Amino acid sequence: MAYERREIPPEEVARQLEYCRRIRERHTGTPLALVDTYGCQQNEADSQRLRGWLQEAGYAFTEDAHAADLIVVNTCAVRQHAELRALGNVGQLCHTKKEKPGQKVVLCGCMVQEPGMVEKLRKSYGVVDLALGPHELWRFPELLERMLREGRRVFAAEDQPGAVAEGLPVRRDAGVKAWLSIMYGCNNFCSYCIVPYVRGRERSRRPEEILSEFREILAEGYRDITLLGQNVNSYGKDLGLGVDFADLLALLCREEGAFRLRFMTSHPKDATEKLLRTMAENPKCARHLHLPVQAGSNRILKAMNRVYTREGYLKTVEAARRYMPDLVLTTDVIVGFPGETEADFQETLSLVRQVEYDAMFTFLYSPRPGTPAAKLPDPETREAKQRRFDQLLEVQNAVSARKHAAYVGKTVEVLVDGESGERDYPFTGRTSGGRLVRLRGEGARPGRFIPVTVTGSNTWALWGETRE
Ligand code: SAH
Ligand code: SF4
Ligand code: F3S
Repeated sequence: MAYERREIPPEEVARQLEYCRRIRERHTGTPLALVDTYGCQQNEADSQRLRGWLQEAGYAFTEDAHAADLIVVNTCAVRQHAELRALGNVGQLCHTKKEKPGQKVVLCGCMVQEPGMVEKLRKSYGVVDLALGPHELWRFPELLERMLREGRRVFAAEDQPGAVAEGLPVRRDAGVKAWLSIMYGCNNFCSYCIVPYVRGRERSRRPEEILSEFREILAEGYRDITLLGQNVNSYGKDLGLGVDFADLLALLCREEGAFRLRFMTSHPKDATEKLLRTMAENPKCARHLHLPVQAGSNRILKAMNRVYTREGYLKTVEAARRYMPDLVLTTDVIVGFPGETEADFQETLSLVRQVEYDAMFTFLYSPRPGTPAAKLPDPETREAKQRRFDQLLEVQNAVSARKHAAYVGKTVEVLVDGESGERDYPFTGRTSGGRLVRLRGEGARPGRFIPVTVTGSNTWALWGETRE
């Protein structure tokens, strides 16, 4: 596979700051921007970078589309539903634009990088003033400045090697949770998935860049930090520095202070003993592993190009629990992959019953044009797929409820992260395993780690009281 990495020189990033200055000079007053995000945490993290650029360019922020001078829609392409929702909302913006002359609309994110999308936007979505793919995020100021200055539509979504840019500004959300991208792109080409096509090949950030951003995040007071990548387990392979993902985890855990380190997502084929051991040895690593299984039948796993087998996966789960008996395990499952039979689905059900995940994200297969799976015959009816989906959810919900009920009476360490809006249990927090806790009692304050005795539970959450 071609080595596809485009390092953006620091002078180029500095040039973007110069474009921010030019944009600032155009403003009379403080313009407002709204950034609307679809999709995964990677996109959330990108939106924080977009806000960073916009802040440099003199914008303040709003949640109100009617008040915004600039609307940025950061799109996802992973399922058709996400795409239709984003396009629907963009379509609606022609109304707000009429009410607010001069309002500009920017479309970015994974959807823009799909083949043919720029043409579609040009022809059918006149409301879009600027569209840029994920590889262009580092030069957003330049593109925005051009669109504003020339007063015409700008499109930038070349098919090119993915960029790695350092030193981009970022405006993180308030609170205790922060994202930290450690790598971009994906090399796995699971047969159903569009991500490798729109996000390019795997590119890891250098460990020293990650460490320096990590320190900045801690210094700003964040306590729950999630390392992001489509497959964090292959971190560093492209750098050739002899630093793998487990080494990176260990490096970050050496930092002083109270924090929790999480990561998303780890591909089961690359989840090594070394990773599990490193997690176990470092209490600052959250006791949570999101290990997407996708299917329980070897035939379907093969057709999905997931590379592991059911048996291999179960071995990894067993090892993970051996290293960390208190580990919270979550997963993703796709129901209705082309050619999935009732027997295949029963294997997924039996795996889910066997593993007993704490929580699961379930998706109905969505054909993505250009992926190999989209060309496979798919004889099963929508109704049959929906039935399977509902059945799977029912089985999982019962397991989740049972697992949550087992917390009642126990005392767990919770990081208080916000207010719940509920009178009786005014605060929310998370356990190390990522379980949501609604809590009350002395000492509950966002940002604090605090022992909480669990008093109640349901399928999705726990309730508890502080011990102070
Ligand atoms: N890189 C991550 C997943 C990113 S996409 C990983 O491999 O774990 C998040 C989830 O969306 C996937 O785990 C999968 O369950 C689901 N997904 C991806 N493509 C899909 C499609 N075409 N239809 C339905 N679900 C899909
Ligand atoms: Fe998609 Fe597979 Fe890559 Fe995850 S690992 S982003 S599912 S191709
Ligand atoms: Fe969607 Fe792109 Fe993430 S397709 S799931 S936003 S990587």
